[in-house]
Amino acid sequence: MPIVTYVLRDGSTRILEVANGSSVMEGAVGNNVPGIDADCGGSASCGTCHVYVDESCRGLFDAPLPEESDLLQCSDAMQSNSRLSCQLFLSDECTEVRVVIPGMG
Ligand code: FES
Repeated sequence: MPIVTYVLRDGSTRILEVANGSSVMEGAVGNNVPGIDADCGGSASCGTCHVYVDESCRGLFDAPLPEESDLLQCSDAMQSNSRLSCQLFLSDECTEVRVVIPGMG
C-alpha cells in the first residue's frame, strides 16, 4: 500500500498508508490530517487541498488538467511543485509520496 508523508504547517509529519486508487486528499481527510480541508469534496474547484509535491515523486502523478492549473494560479502560495491533492491518485508506483501543506511557519 502506498505510504504518504504529510508535512504539516507546524513542521511535524504524519506518515500514513493510503489505499491504491485513493487520492492524497482522501488519505488526509480520512485520517484527520489538519490543513487539507477539501471543501469541494475533490472536484478541483475549491483549492483547499493545495499541497507542494516533493520533487522525488512528482513524476508519479499525471500532469494537472487545465482546471487544476487555473485554480492553482489563483493562489498566492503557488509554487512550481503545487498540486491539488484531490487530483493526486495513488497507485502501485507510489511506494513513497511526500507532500508539504502550504503555510508552514
Ligand atoms: S478538494 Fe477542492 S480542489 Fe481539491
